[in-house]
Amino acid sequence: MARQPVILGFHKLTVPQRVELLPIATAHKQFILDSALSHPDIAGVVNDLSENTIAQFQFPFGIAPNMVINGRNYFVPLVTEESSVVAAIAKATKFWSAQGGFKATVVDTEKKGQIHFFWYGANSFLTQHFLALKQTMLLAISPLVKRMANRGGGISALSLIDCTEVLDNYWQIDASFKTADAMGANFINSCLEQMAEAMHQYFSPIKGFEPQWLDINMAILSNYTPNCRVVVTGHCAVDQFEAYGKELGIANFSQKFINAINIARVSVSRAVTHNKGIFNGIDAVTLATANDWRAIEACGHAYAGRNGQYAGLTNAIIENNEVVFGIDIAFAAGTVGGVTQLHPMAKMALQILGNPNAGELMQIMAATGLASNFSAVTALISTGIQKGHMKMHLVNILRQHNATEQQIASAQHHFSNKTVTHAEVVSWLNNQ
Ligand code: MEV
Repeated sequence: MARQPVILGFHKLTVPQRVELLPIATAHKQFILDSALSHPDIAGVVNDLSENTIAQFQFPFGIAPNMVINGRNYFVPLVTEESSVVAAIAKATKFWSAQGGFKATVVDTEKKGQIHFFWYGANSFLTQHFLALKQTMLLAISPLVKRMANRGGGISALSLIDCTEVLDNYWQIDASFKTADAMGANFINSCLEQMAEAMHQYFSPIKGFEPQWLDINMAILSNYTPNCRVVVTGHCAVDQFEAYGKELGIANFSQKFINAINIARVSVSRAVTHNKGIFNGIDAVTLATANDWRAIEACGHAYAGRNGQYAGLTNAIIENNEVVFGIDIAFAAGTVGGVTQLHPMAKMALQILGNPNAGELMQIMAATGLASNFSAVTALISTGIQKGHMKMHLVNILRQHNATEQQIASAQHHFSNKTVTHAEVVSWLNNQ
């Protein structure tokens, strides 16, 4: 695929100029511009998403241009309340696009769910009946599975797990699913609840079975999906990496960067903050596309602890004279189902991304997390984050203190080459 020209100065354009650059239809561009005024189509849908709605809560919807993944160029939609996240990601995508971008692979998309139950009969009674029980359960969900199979998903495994060593009488029926482009929570939970019901129906008429033997506690998907996994890497020649470091005033950038990534792999204190910075990016795409950020965070963090100690999710090494920087992360995302196609802004975000399938969206989310981490770590090992962060935060401080638009403009000019602190800004404002 031909390399796209890097977009420079996106942040300097007016809102209509930015929207004009997006690869979407003119009607959609107008829709984006109108959304700032709370488009009635949005209000209608959003008010009904949850209960007891009294208003809508607005967050900025921004764009990081120049995200190149597997040779394809994306404008990444980002929704976040945190200053400097979008700027940081955009800075990283600009750098990595000049290196050819990121390579991303979805390793697998297996999702899981369990029926958690207590069994008070003989263990052999349960294990001997499992094969027949399994057939009954599969039959019970066959209409649901048939519909999902038409979309390319289904149930791929069903097993009985003895957990009595860790909790008396505790067993699981563990189910593996593929849910195509849906995150799949509704499908998985419906299947599990129907299978739980089928367990009762199976055992009740069996001779010798006593009803008190089976106590089903719950049937629920697991948000821990370690096999719904995506790996993204960026490669950059060491001398290019060093040249970038030099521009930023960082000597021996490659080694310093790798050391910072390695600290997060061994220190839990650092790893949690390191991963928070990764989720600054992942969450922002997750919100923009109306995916379930609680599920994605929960899985990502659990995956970070998969080897017995919570660790950073990114990795960096020097190999063949290149810095290889990557992320290995697990979470489930969807591009159909939930409210992804219902919320007009989420639908728009997916259009801006070229209507990706779920795997492609996982790649975009993980690459955005990697980009966010790159900028955070680069800032941390050089100037620290406060310089950039406080510059972006300047307007928030001014607004908190009721500055006028004119004062905001002149403060931005005044602080352009000065360190921004809350006290300095307030003192400047008091002297206006
Ligand atoms: C701030 O939102 C995120 C960082 O703290 C992440 C990090 O420390 O890597 C800058």
